Amino acid sequence: MLGEQAKNGDIAGIKKDVNSWMWSEQRYCGLRRDLTKPYQAPKADIDLHAVPIEDVADKVFGVEGLSERDATYLERRRRIFDAGFKGGFVAVTADNDPAYLQWLIPPSQNALTADFFGPLFPLDDETLVVEGAWIPPTYRKANVFGEGLSLVTEAAAKAAPDATSAVCFPELANKGAVRGSALGGYEISHLRTDTWRLGRRTVTFTDITVDDVNRMVPGTIK
Ligand SMILES: CC(C)(COP(=O)(O)OP(=O)(O)OC[C@H]1O[C@@H](n2cnc3c(N)ncnc32)[C@H](O)[C@@H]1OP(=O)(O)O)[C@@H](O)C(=O)NCCC(=O)NCCS
Repeated sequence: MLGEQAKNGDIAGIKKDVNSWMWSEQRYCGLRRDLTKPYQAPKADIDLHAVPIEDVADKVFGVEGLSERDATYLERRRRIFDAGFKGGFVAVTADNDPAYLQWLIPPSQNALTADFFGPLFPLDDETLVVEGAWIPPTYRKANVFGEGLSLVTEAAAKAAPDATSAVCFPELANKGAVRGSALGGYEISHLRTDTWRLGRRTVTFTDITVDDVNRMVPGTIK
C-alpha cells in the first residue's frame, strides 16, 4: 500500500497512513441491503447498466489524468482485481464507459476476504461483502452512486443466488459514500470501529441508527 502511494507521489497519504497505524481510531458506517426485497433506486443523471468488470477492465484501470489521491484509490482497486476476487461489477454508460465500480464478494470467497482485508467484515454463508466503490471523476456529482450501486447489487445477487443480503462499510466521514449507499437500497445498521495502537488493530461492531449517523456527521442522510 505504501509502495503504491510512493509511486503516485502521495507523500501526505503515506504520512497519514503511518500515523494511523501507530495510534488512531477509524469509524465506518455499516449498511445492509436485504436482497430478497425489491428496491427502486433514484435515477442517475445518465443512463446506466451493469456489466461484469472483466468486460471493461482495461477501461476501468486505464482512466487517465487522475489526482494522486484518485490514482491511489484506483491502484487499491487494481489489487482487489489482481487478488482474484469475484463479484466485480461496473455500471457503464450507454457507450460502455465505466461510471461506477464495485465488488460484491460472494461467501464462497470468505477465506480470501478474511485473508486480504483482515477482520473487517461479519462473514457468513448468505452475505455479499461490498468493497471498493469508485466513481471516475468525470461521473461524480451526477447522482451515479445510488443507481450504480443498486444495479451492481442486483447483478451480483443474480450471480450468487444463495445470498440473501449484502453489507458495505464506507468510512463514516465519507458523506458521499454513506449517503450513496443508502440511496442504493442499503440500510444503516452498524458502526465499525477500527482501533490501531502501535500496529495492533482491534475491530468492534455496535448497532446504530440513521439519527446516530446524523448526530456524528451532520447532514449525512437528508
Ligand atoms: C465517494 C464517491 C464514490 C462519491 O461520488 P459522488 O456520489 O459523485 O459524490 P461526490 O464526489 O460529489 O461526493 C459527495 C460528498 O462526499 C464527499 N467525499 C467524497 N469522497 C470522500 C472521501 N474519500 N472522504 C470523505 N468525504 C468524501 C465529498 O466531499 C462530497 O461532500 P459534500 O456533499 O459535502 O460536497 C466518489 O467521490 C469517489 O469515488 N471517491 C473516491 C473513492 C471513495 O471514497 N470510495 C468510497 C469507498 S466506500
